[in-house]
Amino acid sequence: MMLEEFPRRANGYPSGCRCEEYLCDQVQLMIYLNNAATSFPKPVSVLNAVERAMREAPSTSARSGGEISSSAIIVRCRELLAKLFLASHSDQIILTSGATESLNLVIRGLPLQGTHVITTAIEHNSVLRPLRRLEASGAIVLSIVDCDGSGNIDPDLVRNALRANTSLIAVNHCSNVTGAVVDVEAIAEIAREANAFFLVDASQSAGRVPIDVTAMGADAVVFAGHKSLYGISGTGGLYLKKPFSLEPLKVGGTGQWSESPVQPKIMPMYYEAGTPNSVGIAALFAGVEFVSSTGVEAIHANENTIVRHIVAALSTMSNVVIYGNGLADVSIFAMNVGGYDPDDVAFLLHESSGIVTRSGLHCAPLIHRFIGTSSKGCLRISPSFFTSREQADIFIDAVSVISRSAGKRP
Ligand SMILES: Cc1ncc(COP(=O)(O)O)c(C=O)c1O
Repeated sequence: MMLEEFPRRANGYPSGCRCEEYLCDQVQLMIYLNNAATSFPKPVSVLNAVERAMREAPSTSARSGGEISSSAIIVRCRELLAKLFLASHSDQIILTSGATESLNLVIRGLPLQGTHVITTAIEHNSVLRPLRRLEASGAIVLSIVDCDGSGNIDPDLVRNALRANTSLIAVNHCSNVTGAVVDVEAIAEIAREANAFFLVDASQSAGRVPIDVTAMGADAVVFAGHKSLYGISGTGGLYLKKPFSLEPLKVGGTGQWSESPVQPKIMPMYYEAGTPNSVGIAALFAGVEFVSSTGVEAIHANENTIVRHIVAALSTMSNVVIYGNGLADVSIFAMNVGGYDPDDVAFLLHESSGIVTRSGLHCAPLIHRFIGTSSKGCLRISPSFFTSREQADIFIDAVSVISRSAGKRP
């Protein structure tokens, strides 16, 4: 395989690229297909929000009467998120440093001692590890429900796993490996009947598919700020249906009610001790504004068109394997090129054509047993709203070169 065989390196904007207006120098040098890890590029309004927040006089939420702007943006960010997720009140939105903190807050904040917990094989380590820690300490008994070969979860398997003392069901809304979307409404019904707390990890789906937390029937829905909500890293949060249904993960300064010896029982302050990440929250506000004004449906339709185009082309290549249903419910899918280690494919794509993908297990170790990628993992492809057809074609051509060369191997 010769480097010249590859499509041209992405050394300028492909014409018609949707991210022309969202220009950032680095974008010109790469085709970024790793949005499931963190989205790139960010809308220019997000970049501006970061700069504006850094230039403004520092202030912290609810701490000083004269400093309005950053606390105002925190309130507005909460309101906008509540509107996006159709929560009934913005006090139900708790802001954190990311999905990992939010998941730990829920898992460690529930009275799980001596109970049974159900989760699934498609979970991220930020669910599996907090649960495994509780299991290892003897606090809980853990059941992990299998998925099928595409990463789908059969709600009946969740029902079959119930025990008399099941207190928590924790489910990933969307696999960060295959893009399979779980029927969380059906599982909510099972949780309700069992009187178990229902936790949904919407890290990959928030911003990619419409989310109605009320219709979803979840007690808590966790989101990441820096993925498809287009904010920056170090941001995220959760929707919590019932106030104070969790113990806080951290306690400390709240800027108000300082005379109280204990954490003030005020939502969402109860869960947000410490100086907030006001720059990150300003960026998240701008990201959510971008998502809301563009429309989640429009984002979903755009991304799906690109994924379907790529999957259709890859399906004609004899030694390319696509895991999952291939027509991912969201714009994430997994693949391998026969005869190649996924790390090598990721390396070749990057070195030849400036294409950024992610190889390996993707922090979701259990799903690989079910999709058949336990030994070396797979290559994950995750375009965003900003991925153009021309960029997708460069990716397709680059995979085609690798696949043809793999075919020639003895
Ligand atoms: C499904 C899922 N849950 C949780 C996380 C953790 O998100 P964060 O790194 O923002 O805490 C990720 C990140 O990749 C994820 O894909």
